[in-house]
Amino acid sequence: MTLHVLSCLFICVFALSFLVTTLVSLPSRRLDQVESLLAFKNEFALSCNKSVTNSWSRDAISFDGVSFDEDTGGVTELKLRGACLSGTLDANSSLFRLHQLKHLDLSLNNISSSLPGEFGRLTELEFLDLHQNRFTEELPSSISSLGLANATVLTKLHFLDISNNSLQGKVPGWLSNFPSLTAINLSRNSFDSFPNNIPPTVKYLVASNNNFTGEIPLSLCNPRNLLVLDLSNNSLTGSVPRCLSDKMTVLNLSHNNLTSLPDTFSNSSLRLLDVGDNQISGKLPRSLVHCKSLEFVDVQSNRISDTFPFWLESLPNLKALILRSNRFYGPISSPPYPFAFSKLIIIDIAGNMFDGSLPPNYFVVKQIGESYSFVDFSGNRFEGEIPESIGLLNKSGLKISIINGSVSKVSPCRPQSVPVPKTSPVQIRLSI
Ligand SMILES: *[C@@H]1O[C@H](CO)[C@@H](O)[C@H](O)[C@H]1NC(C)=O
Ligand SMILES: *[C@@H]1O[C@H](CO)[C@@H](O)[C@H](O)[C@H]1NC(C)=O
Ligand SMILES: *[C@@H]1O[C@H](CO)[C@@H](O)[C@H](O)[C@H]1NC(C)=O
Ligand SMILES: *[C@@H]1O[C@H](CO)[C@@H](O)[C@H](O)[C@H]1NC(C)=O
Ligand SMILES: *[C@@H]1O[C@H](CO)[C@@H](O)[C@H](O)[C@H]1NC(C)=O
Ligand SMILES: *[C@@H]1O[C@H](CO)[C@@H](O)[C@H](O)[C@H]1NC(C)=O
Ligand SMILES: *[C@@H]1O[C@H](CO)[C@@H](O)[C@H](O)[C@H]1NC(C)=O
Ligand SMILES: *[C@@H]1O[C@H](CO)[C@@H](O)[C@H](O)[C@H]1NC(C)=O
Ligand SMILES: *[C@@H]1O[C@H](CO)[C@@H](O)[C@H](O)[C@H]1NC(C)=O
Ligand SMILES: *[C@@H]1O[C@H](CO)[C@@H](O)[C@H](O)[C@H]1NC(C)=O
Ligand SMILES: *[C@@H]1O[C@H](CO)[C@@H](O)[C@H](O)[C@H]1NC(C)=O
Ligand SMILES: *[C@@H]1O[C@H](CO)[C@@H](O)[C@H](O)[C@H]1NC(C)=O
Repeated sequence: MTLHVLSCLFICVFALSFLVTTLVSLPSRRLDQVESLLAFKNEFALSCNKSVTNSWSRDAISFDGVSFDEDTGGVTELKLRGACLSGTLDANSSLFRLHQLKHLDLSLNNISSSLPGEFGRLTELEFLDLHQNRFTEELPSSISSLGLANATVLTKLHFLDISNNSLQGKVPGWLSNFPSLTAINLSRNSFDSFPNNIPPTVKYLVASNNNFTGEIPLSLCNPRNLLVLDLSNNSLTGSVPRCLSDKMTVLNLSHNNLTSLPDTFSNSSLRLLDVGDNQISGKLPRSLVHCKSLEFVDVQSNRISDTFPFWLESLPNLKALILRSNRFYGPISSPPYPFAFSKLIIIDIAGNMFDGSLPPNYFVVKQIGESYSFVDFSGNRFEGEIPESIGLLNKSGLKISIINGSVSKVSPCRPQSVPVPKTSPVQIRLSI
C-alpha cells in the first residue's frame, strides 16, 4: 500500500517536472511577432492544402518554418519554400515588421508584385531567397525612399537569389550597395545590362538565361574573388575579357555570340570551362595548359580551327573534352605522347575534319563510379581499324556492339552499388 502511494507520488512528481521543463523550454516568442506572422499568412491565398503555414495559430505549440530568437522572441528565420502562397507582397506587408529576420526563404511560391523596397527595412537579413515567383521590376527608386534602392542598410546580406522571376531591364544598382554579398543568382529573368559596380566580395555570380547583350562588361572584373561565373544563354558578343581567364573555378559562357578567347589563362583553379555554342574562331588557347585543375572543357559548336590538342594531356584531372562541331583538322594517328588522358570519361570530337587512322591505345576512357561515359568520334574522316583502346573500354566496364564496321551502340555495365539515372546518355558512336 505505502509502496503504491510512494510510487504514485514519484510518478506524479516526475510527470510534473517533465511538464514544467517542457513549458519552460518552449521557444519564447513575442506576441507582436506572432500577430505579424498571422497577418502575413492572411495576405495570401493558399494554392494547396498542405502549406507549412497551416500549423500557425495564436496558441500554436510550434510554428513550422519559423525560428524565434531565444532572448528577444523576435522572428529570425522564415523558411517558406514551396508554401503554396499565392498573391501579392505589398509595401505594407506584415513581413516588413519582422525586423530581426536573418534568413528569409519565399522561393517556389506564386507571389506576384514588384520587389518592394521595404526589404531594405530588414536590416539583419543575411540570406534572401525569392527564386521562382512572379516578381516583376523593383519600384522606381524615387518611389521607394527606404528600400532596396537605399540598400546600404542591408550590410549583412550575403546570399541573394532572385532567379526565375519576371525581372527585366538593368540589374538594379542597389546590388552595388550590399557590402557583404558573396552569392548572387539572377538567372532566368529578362535583365539586359549590369550595373557599373558589382560588390568586390562576390564569389558566385549566376546570370544565365537573361537578355544580356553587347560585350561582357569589365565591371565583372571587379569582384577579385569571383569563383563561379555563369553568363550562359544570353546574347553577349565580342571577346572574353582577359580578367576572366586567371581566377575562376567555373566559367560558363556557353550559348552566346562570343567571338574570341584570351590566350592568358594562368595556373588558376579553373576546373570547368564551357564556351560551347558561340562563334569563337582561331586556335584553342595554348595557355589552357597552365590550368592544372581543369576537369571539363567544352568548346563545341564554334569555329575553332586547330589540330588535335595533344598538349592537353598534361592536365592531370581532365575528365571531359568536348571539341564537337568545330573545324579541327589533321590526323590524330601519331600522338606525340605514348599514353595519355588517363582520367577521361567523356570525349567528343565528332563533326570535325580529323582524318587518318585512330591511334591504338591512346584514349583510355574510364568509368570509375561515374554515372556514364561518352565517346563520339563520328562525322570525321577517320579510316582503318577500330583501335585496341576500344577493347580497353570494353574491359573497363562498357559493353560494345559493333555494327557494320562501326561501333554504334553501347550499354553500360556498372558495379551494382552505383545508382544509375535512367536518363544517362550512355552511348558510343564511332563511325569510320
Ligand atoms: C498564381 O497567381 C495568379 C494570380 O496572381 C493566379 O491566377 C494563379 O492561379 C496562381 N497559380 C497558382 C498555381 O496558384
Ligand atoms: C483541399 O481540400 C478540400 C477538401 O478538404 C478539397 O475540396 C480541395 O480541393 C483541396 N484543395 C487543394 C488545392 O488540394
Ligand atoms: C496594403 O496596400 C494595398 C495596396 O497597396 C491595399 O490594397 C491594402 O488594403 C493595404 N493593406 C493594409 C492592411 O493596409
Ligand atoms: C521557373 O519557374 C516556373 C514557374 O514559374 C517553373 O515552371 C519552372 O520549372 C522554373 N524553371 C526552373 C529551371 O526552375
Ligand atoms: C536612405 O538614404 C538616404 C540618403 O540617400 C539617407 O539619408 C537615409 O538615412 C537612408 N535610410 C536609411 C534607413 O538608411
Ligand atoms: C543560384 O545561384 C546560387 C549561387 O551559385 C546557388 O547557390 C543557388 O542554388 C542557385 N539557385 C537556383 C534556383 O539554382
Ligand atoms: C530581349 O532583347 C531583345 C532585343 O535585344 C528585345 O527585342 C526583347 O524584347 C527582349 N526581351 C525581353 C523580355 O525584354
Ligand atoms: C552551361 O550553361 C548551359 C546553359 O545554361 C547549360 O546547359 C550547361 O549545362 C552548362 N554547362 C555546364 C558544364 O554545366
Ligand atoms: C536559352 O533560353 C531560351 C529562352 O530564352 C530557351 O528556350 C532555351 O532552352 C535556352 N537554352 C539553353 C541551352 O538553356
Ligand atoms: C547570334 O547572332 C546571330 C546573328 O548574327 C543571331 O541569329 C543569333 O540569334 C545570335 N545568337 C545568340 C545566342 O544571341
Ligand atoms: C599550380 O597551382 C597548384 C595549386 O593551385 C599548385 O599545386 C601547383 O604547384 C601550381 N603549378 C605551377 C607550375 O605553378
Ligand atoms: C566486349 O566484351 C564482350 C564480352 O564481355 C565480348 O563479347 C565483345 O567481343 C567485346 N567487344 C570488343 C569490341 O572487344
